[in-house]
Amino acid sequence: MSEGTQPSPAIADYSQWQAQDYFRTYYSEVVLPDEQVVLAYQVETLKRIEHKFGRGLEYGCGPTLHRAIAAARYAFRIDMADWLPDNLTEVQAWVNSTSANDDWNRFTHYILGCEGDTPDARRIARREEQTRKVIRNLHVSDARWRHPLGPDRQGFYDLLVSGFCLDAVSSDKRVWHRCMCNVLSTLHEGGLLILHSLYRCKAYKVGERMFPGADLSEDDLVESLASNGFARSSIDVHVIPCPDNAQYGYAGILVASARKG
Ligand SMILES: C[S@@+](CC[C@H](N)C(=O)[O-])C[C@H]1O[C@@H](n2cnc3c(N)ncnc32)[C@H](O)[C@@H]1O
Repeated sequence: MSEGTQPSPAIADYSQWQAQDYFRTYYSEVVLPDEQVVLAYQVETLKRIEHKFGRGLEYGCGPTLHRAIAAARYAFRIDMADWLPDNLTEVQAWVNSTSANDDWNRFTHYILGCEGDTPDARRIARREEQTRKVIRNLHVSDARWRHPLGPDRQGFYDLLVSGFCLDAVSSDKRVWHRCMCNVLSTLHEGGLLILHSLYRCKAYKVGERMFPGADLSEDDLVESLASNGFARSSIDVHVIPCPDNAQYGYAGILVASARKG
């Protein structure tokens, strides 16, 4: 990390990130209770919108597909972005594979259940196929850049989903403020944001390493959204306790949604 305060030696740099460690820590066995809440919130929020989104972006996807799978039914196209090419390689490998790849099946099963469906193998395969078709461009991107996807993507998207990325760039809250401003500027007036962050987390665990957390409160999030042009009346922020995750460096998460303008 070159910007802001240097992380303490105990906090790893993203050059030490291992996509497989991340997948194994958080996603390889069960849909963890906090992730269940996050996905249910995403589905509930998307279901309420009566039109389909033309241009979706998942920012800071890491090596994961579950947020794109949850959004795929509601958008004609989804671009995905992350700072680490290795993460995007994992995403691309899944997109290039077929329903024989069962890495995300249990998440698709859970998502279909949130939508009121009775999931079975055929429905799971169909939703994952739909997701493979909807995912378009994968971008290597740095949230610290003023235009993380280039100036022509300013105000480009009408749906932006970002889970546990912008608050995980740095332990310096000023960096988080700038990342919020940069990434949220890719959303069009009237566009919908769905954002998840770790609550009051200074560092979170992946494998044996700790990565940075911006130590956010509910108020930090509300104020940042308001100052980035989101209508206060549309801002919805909740703290979800997850005491079992204290072993990973956080005991709560923030789920949020808001409309720009
Ligand atoms: C905790 S993971 C979240 C991954 C995924 N969205 C999820 O919910 O599991 C944090 C992600 O932020 C990405 N990241 C870290 N610094 C970044 C930066 N400066 N710009 C963009 N992404 C960054 C990392 O590569 C990693 O994929």
